Amino acid sequence: MGKIEIGARREGAEVRIFISDNGKGMDILTLDRLFSPFFTTKENGTGLGLSVSDRIIKNHGGCISVNSRLNEGTQFVISLPLIQ
Ligand SMILES: Nc1ncnc2c1ncn2[C@@H]1O[C@H](COP(=O)(O)OP(=O)(O)O)[C@@H](O)[C@H]1O
Ligand SMILES: [Mg+2]
Repeated sequence: MGKIEIGARREGAEVRIFISDNGKGMDILTLDRLFSPFFTTKENGTGLGLSVSDRIIKNHGGCISVNSRLNEGTQFVISLPLIQ
């Protein structure tokens, strides 16, 4: 069964948001281009989701990273600085 887990925790001066799934994971070619505008592996994908997310997160002084295993799942981690 498909499962998505979302969590967040504070780490020092930043907050980390974790988004994990047990979906199909990604191969190395996909991982290489994941955040490129218009890159999609879907028949009707736009390829905008992650490039726009990356830009928004960077505009807030944060970053997004990904860990993925083919046929096992994927975890994105978003780090954002906390405002004093
Ligand atoms: N959680 C995920 N699991 C597997 N592949 C993913 C995941 N998120 C993104 N991808 C891959 O990255 C590509 C780009 O994603 P995205 O920018 O959201 O555009 P889109 O969803 O329109 O394809 C997807 O087509 C897919 O190949
Ligand atoms: Mg998408």
